Amino acid sequence: MIERAVEILSASRRVVTFSGAGLSAESGVPTFRDAGSRGLWSRYEPMKLASPEGFAADPETVIAWYNWRRTVLAGVEPNAAHRALAARTDMLHITQNVDDLLERAGAPADNVVHLHGSMTIDRCHRACGFVERVELASPPPRRLCPMCAAPMRPAVVWFGESLPPEAWTRAAEASGSCDAMIVIGTSAAVYPAAGLIGVARQAGASIIVINAERTDASRLADVEIIGLAGEIVPRLVSPR
Ligand code: OAD
Repeated sequence: MIERAVEILSASRRVVTFSGAGLSAESGVPTFRDAGSRGLWSRYEPMKLASPEGFAADPETVIAWYNWRRTVLAGVEPNAAHRALAARTDMLHITQNVDDLLERAGAPADNVVHLHGSMTIDRCHRACGFVERVELASPPPRRLCPMCAAPMRPAVVWFGESLPPEAWTRAAEASGSCDAMIVIGTSAAVYPAAGLIGVARQAGASIIVINAERTDASRLADVEIIGLAGEIVPRLVSPR
């Protein structure tokens, strides 16, 4: 399977990667849908912590939860998969991850599309335009926008919110015009992001899936490799 995937990639001119929480799991960042304590959504309620309604009901808890995730992120390092991808500046890396591990591994910012935003930035909840970089190791407490006094919040996409239009347009265009897409560590359960796999397939791209288990992306895969991203990704993208 690995040989077949390497063959496909070496015959492909435009390659995009589409990643999820499984890419960062070996760095020590929890995923969402893994069973037990490894998956955030088995311990926490998504609609209370990651929705505008949850934020309106209890902003203190939502900010505290993101700030906890930020301090976790401050204490981890990119893994071998991030490093291998970061070195491939000829590929566009579309990620659902709100961490900065691809960038910390050396990926140029312009080479990474964050479909679900980023925890490294806070923004005005009313979207007046004010944004501020946050220190992951010492994130700011709940506060108001200095421009318009609306609450500040992490610049991530919550359930029920639209994806950042620029990121979505760039991701959709790249997916619809690539020769191959490598899908890494995602349950492919959250739309519209997961729909990019279908967009690429529809456009005739080969789909290579690397995941710890079979997922909704399995049926779209030309090649599926069940395994850990940190072991498999470098073997696919590092040989040239
Ligand atoms: P999920 O937690 O849904 O899926 C992660 C996938 O990675 C699972 O299928 C795991 O089996 C797999 N996995 C775990 N460890 C792995 C490893 N070391 N190597 C390879 N695969 C591994 O995470 P996402 O698909 O990213 O959105 O979730 C999508 C979105 O749902 C997130 O961006 C987030 C969440 O709710 C929002 O918060 C809007």
